Amino acid sequence: MNTKKINIAIDGPSGAGKSTIAKILARELGFIYVDTGAMYRSIGLYMLRNGVDSTDLPAVQAALQGIEINIAYVDGAQHIYLNGEDVSELIRTEAVSKAASAFSAIPEVRAFLLELQRGLAAKNSVIMDGRDIGTVILPNAEVKIFLTADDTARAERRYKELIEKGQEVTFESVLENIRQRDKNDSERALAPLKPAEDAILVDTTKLDLMQSVEAMKSVILEKMK
Ligand code: DC
Repeated sequence: MNTKKINIAIDGPSGAGKSTIAKILARELGFIYVDTGAMYRSIGLYMLRNGVDSTDLPAVQAALQGIEINIAYVDGAQHIYLNGEDVSELIRTEAVSKAASAFSAIPEVRAFLLELQRGLAAKNSVIMDGRDIGTVILPNAEVKIFLTADDTARAERRYKELIEKGQEVTFESVLENIRQRDKNDSERALAPLKPAEDAILVDTTKLDLMQSVEAMKSVILEKMK
């Protein structure tokens, strides 16, 4: 199965399970997992730290000049570096989620990350997850999946995850954050969240993690036959 380079694009809203499922599948298939949300989150973190407002375009453009993002794989897990600092954990907060969503609507920010993402897929067999992978970044991906679930199910999962990490959040605030991000991500003019025409839809609302992995695996294997 791995003799030829193959790219798998997974898009969908926050909390549908993209990264958890993609990580498991990447390990099983021997592919590299690329979490593009982590790249937008790193930019969000940088902008928050430097007090850059997403409506101030000249400031955003100037800030991008000072950002270098690298990814590396440690024991198969993606680590993301912002100007040399490993920010893999620091980017997993609700404040950074919001900032990532706001800055990701800016064309200059998307252009900044496009080459990095395409470059990784050109060199490796990847499972890449995000919002515009099947539509914009890898329109020729061999497999495209749009992974979704209803917003309450997604908020429940995200809430559990954040509580397990010791963050102080309420279910209502997590649901509100998810709804706001769904709206921002799907209504923006550039590269909005939407299924590619040739994407296969997988709905995980009623599936647990292993059932979701199996559903995805059968879609992938069917496409790769
Ligand atoms: O997948 P995530 O929740 O880590 O992504 C954080 C934000 O980044 C998300 O709200 C929208 C943005 N994003 C994007 O616009 N395009 C991508 N390919 C990945 C993420």
